[in-house]
Amino acid sequence: MKPAAASLTLWRGARLATLAGAGGWGLVEHGALLVDGARLAWVGAERALPAGLRAAAEHDLGGALVTPGLVDCHTHLVYDGQRAREFELRLQGASYEDIARAGGGIRATVAATRAAGDDALFAAARPRALALMSEGVTTLEIKSGYGLSLDDEARCLRVARRLGRELPLTVRTTSLAAHALPPEFDGRADDYIDAVVQWLPQWQREGLVDAVDAFCERIGFSTAQTRRVFDAARALGLPVKLHAEQLSDMGGAELAAGYRALSCDHLEHLSESGVRAMAAAGTVAVLLPGAFYFLRETKVPPVAALRAAGVPIAVASDHNPGSSPGLSLLLMLHMACTLFRLTPEEAVRGVTLHAARAIGLAGSHGTLEAGKQADFAVWDIEHPNELAYWFGRNPCRRVVRAGRQRAAPLSRPPEPVEPA
Ligand code: NIG
Ligand code: FE
Repeated sequence: MKPAAASLTLWRGARLATLAGAGGWGLVEHGALLVDGARLAWVGAERALPAGLRAAAEHDLGGALVTPGLVDCHTHLVYDGQRAREFELRLQGASYEDIARAGGGIRATVAATRAAGDDALFAAARPRALALMSEGVTTLEIKSGYGLSLDDEARCLRVARRLGRELPLTVRTTSLAAHALPPEFDGRADDYIDAVVQWLPQWQREGLVDAVDAFCERIGFSTAQTRRVFDAARALGLPVKLHAEQLSDMGGAELAAGYRALSCDHLEHLSESGVRAMAAAGTVAVLLPGAFYFLRETKVPPVAALRAAGVPIAVASDHNPGSSPGLSLLLMLHMACTLFRLTPEEAVRGVTLHAARAIGLAGSHGTLEAGKQADFAVWDIEHPNELAYWFGRNPCRRVVRAGRQRAAPLSRPPEPVEPA
């Protein structure tokens, strides 16, 4: 018999939903995962396990469902403060745009974020990350966009990187300096874009930026300004993504597709030509039902057209204090089905493979396949369609990230303490 390979761990007795392949759940009954260090070395039915295999450690999952670790591909996790008062104002009739134009909205969070120290920002963001992780999230995209100066944007991106270092989590950072006009640039949007274009290489040099995003909107930046930010990103070899057609159709999707954007996000007002441009460029459509719901929007993104055109669809939390203060990716799955009519399979693909693609990680994350990072979640459910079915329930039992099981408190509620 071969000696046990010290780096190999075998997880058996699993019902696998691999999400591998062009369609379907990729279900494997009586499945096994062989993990070598941080990677999946082998995935399949137990009876097909390589003969003579000896793993150093073995876990029997007792028939539990296993999916790839979830990927939240659009968050604004690093900020200070909250905007519950704006929620009240909106319930009394003010619109998101009214509040932004009156100096509230994103600017209010920028003021709070600038005033907070680095440790305070980290302390605020960490429990948000933990909340998402408790539901099986192993990869997280985090945008800047509440600093809006050379130094404050860098501070927020450093906090994002620190979350990735200190938590069992893969973090991808996105510069969203073109999120709103900071007060010191009032009436000088083009000058602010000039500044962003100068700042980008400095953030990149410090290793703070994996992608570049912009808010292309009447209350954000014009298509011409977005183009300048994207040109700067392209010159640095950075991929782009865009907050596009959230409140109006600005033609942002066509613009972003011209830069082969990784993703266009929101898309409630996406046109037919936007759909075609995204399909041709292979750009992922990231749907954000949390923002749609919280802003009480009524125009749904054109899901049937995206589907018909073969545009990959992802789903994300868009966690932020102004338009989506939620911290449950599973609730987003559910709402993507009830509000946007995704099928449960599309929704689950949207938080695994397609979400990984939206942040440039499709080659290494998002499915259970040999060679990919060993990120998976073990669930107390029978079928993966239940991930979109339940809401307000967290069936995540355990999480393995980069081959290592997370400490219990991340994936389980604390045990009740019996009185002595
Ligand atoms: O994705 N649309 C712009 N950005 C955020 C909201 C930011 C905020 O209101 O603080 C979003 O919805
Ligand atoms: Fe967003």
